[in-house]
Amino acid sequence: MVSSSTAEVSALPDVPQNANQHCPGTSSDQAGKAAACAGCPNQSVCATAPKGPDPDLAAISERMSAVKHKLLVLSGKGGVGKSTVSAQLAFALARRGFEVGLLDIDICGPSIPKMLGLEGQEVHSSNLGWSPVYVEDNLAVMSIGFMLPNPDEAVIWRGPRKNGLIKQFLKDVHWGSLDYLVVDAPPGTSDEHITITQCLQSATSTAATPGGSSSVSGSGASAIIVTTPQDVAVIDVRKEVSFCRKVGLPVLGVVENMAGLVTPLERCSFTATDTAAAAPAAAAAAGDAASGASGASGAASTAAEVDVDVTQQVLALLAERFPGQRLSVLAEVFRAGGAADRMCSDMGVQLLGRVPLDPGLGAAADAGLPVVGPPGGGEAGDTEGGAAAGGAGGVAVAAGPCLPALMAIVDKVVGRTGGKGREDGGPTGQ
Ligand SMILES: Nc1ncnc2c1ncn2[C@@H]1O[C@H](COP(=O)(O)OP(=O)(O)OP(=O)(O)O)[C@@H](O)[C@H]1O
Ligand SMILES: [Mg+2]
Repeated sequence: MVSSSTAEVSALPDVPQNANQHCPGTSSDQAGKAAACAGCPNQSVCATAPKGPDPDLAAISERMSAVKHKLLVLSGKGGVGKSTVSAQLAFALARRGFEVGLLDIDICGPSIPKMLGLEGQEVHSSNLGWSPVYVEDNLAVMSIGFMLPNPDEAVIWRGPRKNGLIKQFLKDVHWGSLDYLVVDAPPGTSDEHITITQCLQSATSTAATPGGSSSVSGSGASAIIVTTPQDVAVIDVRKEVSFCRKVGLPVLGVVENMAGLVTPLERCSFTATDTAAAAPAAAAAAGDAASGASGASGAASTAAEVDVDVTQQVLALLAERFPGQRLSVLAEVFRAGGAADRMCSDMGVQLLGRVPLDPGLGAAADAGLPVVGPPGGGEAGDTEGGAAAGGAGGVAVAAGPCLPALMAIVDKVVGRTGGKGREDGGPTGQ
């Protein structure tokens, strides 16, 4: 078993255990020469060691050659739903019968153990390497979160150390043959992104992409970019697309997340302004308005208004009007200005789909469950104890209005990578 101590996590080939605090990493051009190397016991070895091609790349290439498609879920912006999309994409692909791996390279903020319901799990090792943690027999997960003794403890690592662990995840984890390796990345275009892209690009896939889009590179690596509708997010996300261009990573498409709020009616509350209480003031205001004192009228009427909770009455009326129907409410939370659409057309990338804000999806993430529901049919939220049911405080709600949107995105991902599900007779090994 791999120890859950940070000491072992830090035992990376790139940064010797006894290295100085700001070690640039043994593979760096600065190894043995940087200011931080002064006094380090490894200094002379590092300074004289050959700096040729990274020897890890051959091992990474071998492991990754058994992985057909590597999907990097990226965004220039934090908190837009990368981990949620990664988790639900992995669940959905596995449910369709693909062999799926989910790799969390958000070293400082790993969300994947929680979102896959794997908190407290540990990584084991065998002669084949580190074994990932399995959700199902065709869904394997790896995250630094499995290696930390205390989930609340901050991981304060500089780039070389993060890079070393990411390489280990690719090189030392026994992923086996996979149809898809979904990689959940931290926000931005930093060390982690450069390292994972370089490592994956160095690995050539044995898998062809029959019928697949030309956007999928020879290494089988491509990016799914996540944004939200606001300009502030899209501005940062444009940089991510530019990063992909610069490093030669094809963009499979863009997911616009949190695109409007869709929520079951039961979750809404309604208030009414008690105009009866306001009537005398309103009448007085009307008189004022007639005499031209419009400013005073507004103040008088506002002061007299009382908000009353009429949720029960409204729900009863709607239930009477729409018997047996499940009603949802759609609201545009963020500006629906089409910033993501514009970005896609400006930058020549395709929109994979729009996922609304959906309490069921947030609940599924918190519960570590798929919104696609348990094997054998049904949707998670439709069942007692399902994701959405838990999140709704025990009230059974639909798996979520996000479900059709998410599934349409999964369809496109599968279509654009040329994959087939078990139902179609074509996953790995079939
Ligand atoms: N469409 C959605 N509907 C409801 N909740 C959502 C939706 N998308 C994401 N969330 C919630 O928003 C929060 C942030 O999502 P998530 O952690 O996936 O973002 P992230 O981009 O991975 O963040 P970070 O940049 O910190 O890694 C989570 O609590 C998640 O459950
Ligand atoms: Mg995340």
